[in-house]
Amino acid sequence: MPTQVSATTSFPTETDADTIAIPVFDGEGIAHDFEDGHLGNLVERGEAKTSVGSTAVTHAGDLRFIVYGLGKRDDVDGEKARRAAAAVETRARSLGAVKLAIEIPHHATDEVVEGLTEGVILSTYRWDTRKGADSDRREPVAEVLLSDHDDRSVPVARGVLLATAQNRARDLQNSPPNEMTPDALAARAKEIADSSEHATLETLDRQQLIEAGCGAFAAVAQGTEREPRMIVIKWNPPGTTAEPLALVGKAVTFDSGGISIKPSVGMEGMKFDMSGGAAVLEATAAIIELGVNVPVIAVVGATENLPSGSAMRPSDIVTASDGTTIEIDNTDAEGRLVLADCLVKAKAEGAKRIVDLATRTGAMDIALGPAYAGLFSNNDEWAATLMAASDGSGEPLWRMPLHPSYRKMIDGVYADIRNTASKRVAGASTAAEFLHHFAGDEIPWAHLDIAGVADDVDLPYAKKGGAGFGVRLLVTLAESLAS
Ligand code: BES
Ligand code: ZN
Ligand code: ZN
Repeated sequence: MPTQVSATTSFPTETDADTIAIPVFDGEGIAHDFEDGHLGNLVERGEAKTSVGSTAVTHAGDLRFIVYGLGKRDDVDGEKARRAAAAVETRARSLGAVKLAIEIPHHATDEVVEGLTEGVILSTYRWDTRKGADSDRREPVAEVLLSDHDDRSVPVARGVLLATAQNRARDLQNSPPNEMTPDALAARAKEIADSSEHATLETLDRQQLIEAGCGAFAAVAQGTEREPRMIVIKWNPPGTTAEPLALVGKAVTFDSGGISIKPSVGMEGMKFDMSGGAAVLEATAAIIELGVNVPVIAVVGATENLPSGSAMRPSDIVTASDGTTIEIDNTDAEGRLVLADCLVKAKAEGAKRIVDLATRTGAMDIALGPAYAGLFSNNDEWAATLMAASDGSGEPLWRMPLHPSYRKMIDGVYADIRNTASKRVAGASTAAEFLHHFAGDEIPWAHLDIAGVADDVDLPYAKKGGAGFGVRLLVTLAESLAS
């Protein structure tokens, strides 16, 4: 059973919770104390710290109390709330709590209330369904109430919806690649499209990709026996006046590198090479669930990248659906081949703004690590819109450069363009310039290289495995364009 999270206007001690979490800020006391300063004493004695992520436990009567730190009152934001709430849930779970009531600090903004909600739900996430019984393993807290004097059910409901969508993306990411195949992603896309009469689904299989001229995408898929899928979900809310937004995701369900095979150490992590597609699918599901008033074209390119007797070779030349000829220098630079045809498709479907998400380069991971995803864009205003969405959702982006000199490095020798740069420099930027070629300059386009933030990010609410990066960001972005 997933943890039930809801808002209440009852005071925590008036609920039937077995565990009550009370916030504390730097230099402040406990707002609602219990039994003549019982909790305040914890703070005064220094047992309860006020830094974000700190928790201290005490008991009074039948009740268990967790004092949780939120840092400086003026600095608290959604991300600090997510981290603090995750610490509370983790502590409560380790103590065997079943029903937890969390006191929301007075005058908290909606962003903070949402953050607390999301932190709890993201923290309860587990992907250990294949492990045998383990008597030490604690169940997540079954029910969580977020308590405030005022009715906070609106931000709590939004937090529940977004964090649940993010956890679904983590399920897609964490599932093994023998199960999370392109076909399985297409099946999930069908459920999403079927959830509304205003949504439609189109999928292209191997034969259809070839017939549509998607020679770059098809080249990646030719090494595997599993059918590839180009997945297109369209969301057309009635009465919207907003221009269509395309969300494009790389979903390489396993990237072995192909003939340019990767070293075996760490190759298992390449099941996460579908993380961009996972974020696009579940963000689209949430956009539909929220009824966000903007038309969305979600395009997910799903295939494996495997070596075989039929696999593409370095030096092959293929033709993308816009007619560009591409020289394949390295079969491990497959994401750009898949996305090239997906970007052309998004434009053909009428996109007026595009954002793509992809685990594209080790270079990006090395440059920024898990702290930021790299943002590349052909349009400053569009980049600023994405930055604003990133501030709102708490998923940090760092703007990275495009430049004609990076573009020059992927000029083809035998064809229009080559899939890896002539020099091993600025790998994330030359990869972005490859996509830029297909996105063009007429439509605002942005590329998010999420190679460093997709998995194993060691956040309090997402320590190991898929992080679901981008789901909240894309929903927030869509909302900012709604009209
Ligand atoms: N899926 C990888 C990128 C990646 C690397 C994601 C590390 C997450 C962690 C991508 O398809 C790839 O193999 N990129 C190559 C590009 C190179 C061949 C130009 C890379 O980054 O090494
Ligand atoms: Zn690769
Ligand atoms: Zn890849």
